[in-house]
Amino acid sequence: MKNILCIGAGYVGGPTMAMIALKCPDRKVTVVDINSERIAAWNSDQLPIYEPGLLEVVKACRGRNLFFSTDIERGIEENDIIFVSVNTPTKTFGRGAGCAADLQYWEQTARKIKHCAKSDKIVVEKSTLPVRTATAMARILAAEGDGGAGVKFEVLSNPEFLAEGTAIEDLRNPDRVLVGGNQTPEGDAAVAELVAIYSSWVPRERILTTNVWSSELSKLTANAFLAQRVSSVNAISELCEATGADVQEVSRAIGMDSRIGPKFLKAGVGFGGSCFKKDILNLVYLCETYGLTQAAAYWRGVVAYNDHQQERFVSRILRAMFNTVAGKKIALFGFAFKSDTGDTRESPAIAIARMLAEEHAKVAITDPKALPSVRRDLAGCLDSIVEEPDPYKAADGADCIAVATDWKCFRDLDFARIYASMRKPAFVFDGRNLLDHEALFKLGFNVYAVGKSPLTHLD
Ligand code: UDX
Ligand code: ADP
Repeated sequence: MKNILCIGAGYVGGPTMAMIALKCPDRKVTVVDINSERIAAWNSDQLPIYEPGLLEVVKACRGRNLFFSTDIERGIEENDIIFVSVNTPTKTFGRGAGCAADLQYWEQTARKIKHCAKSDKIVVEKSTLPVRTATAMARILAAEGDGGAGVKFEVLSNPEFLAEGTAIEDLRNPDRVLVGGNQTPEGDAAVAELVAIYSSWVPRERILTTNVWSSELSKLTANAFLAQRVSSVNAISELCEATGADVQEVSRAIGMDSRIGPKFLKAGVGFGGSCFKKDILNLVYLCETYGLTQAAAYWRGVVAYNDHQQERFVSRILRAMFNTVAGKKIALFGFAFKSDTGDTRESPAIAIARMLAEEHAKVAITDPKALPSVRRDLAGCLDSIVEEPDPYKAADGADCIAVATDWKCFRDLDFARIYASMRKPAFVFDGRNLLDHEALFKLGFNVYAVGKSPLTHLD
């Protein structure tokens, strides 16, 4: 039975390996990372990421067949199947800056695998990567010199589709598992190894096998389509605000069309997270590389609209609050890019807080999980920002509440108490259409929800 190594103990590598260890108790699964603090956290009860149900799964397997370590060399030597899930952020320098994937961590990992391998390996791409990266990895692994002599490497693409906040459920019960491999006898054998692992708990008909490039492109395409739905419904929300239609009613009506379906039709402050923007820009770069300027422009528009939606949210706040928020206290409810995660990568709340700070507002940010990231994410405008774990204190003396994250706990707050503690007129800008707008209006709030006409006492 082949043992498993995963290089990169992040949001993807950690939960995915924990689930494999849970479902394949006969296999030893080791997760390694260069970041020793992260590994220490994985070995404690304070895991480095917040994910409902994750701690239970880790506790069931850790020390049994799931191990976290910083010894990357030994891991490579001792294991036969190596998942690579190191980070591949958007490049911030040189060609393709702001668009292409930064592959430096990924290439370092490829070279390390080659350097340390003494027996044949199956290398599995788990990070989201540009199409044809597997070929580049195969070339690095096959190049002469720097170790790896006589060792055969077979590179597979096995993109991860889990969403944060529901990672454990998504891993336990995936819509599909995708395995891309070379269409050669060796490639087929490697694909069969990986399929055997997933077959331990995923029905065989949900495991798709494709060529490597289709697999890589499917991941980028899935994220681009999901993000495009969010930008599409947000564009309709702008039209609803202008015309008096209600975007939630429109979403419900179109979502009942079985060809469209009801998911991913929630208008809000725009999408965030580490994947959507990065993957679309990656797709844009890929299109541009092949001279497909119209296709590139089409996908770029999805990101451009997302930025516009965040600017629009702040403009609406400004307009409603008599065109100035200077010196006013604004309670920003939510900092994570969505609920049930502490992750703030590309969170709309960051852009919103920055724009409000530029307008000289005093922003009190409250969030049940993401406050530790505020200082890092809002560097440069911290004079205008305070972190406040208690939402009641965040709202105390504020002129408005701006909801940026759909945390359910915000719904259960005592808004009569909050209203009493705020400066009047008091406003709510619900950027996630999370709260009970009629009830807030009855309490005295002026309520502005995305894609809806305002409920205001000021006319
Ligand atoms: C996404 C993909 O769903 C997942 O398959 C992929 O592996 C990684 O990227 P994730 O970034 O964790 O997962 O979050 P997701 O639930 O997809 O939400 C992304 C963003 O879109 C969030 O900011 C969310 O608030 C927003 N969103 C989602 C909306 O604004 N409206 C919706 O209807 C759905
Ligand atoms: P993702 O959301 O894709 O999982 P993360 O940033 O959460 O991304 O995790 C990526 C992990 O990969 C980080 O913990 C980082 O320390 C690790 N990493 C990056 N480069 C290397 C490397 N060369 N060797 C081992 N681990 C690495």
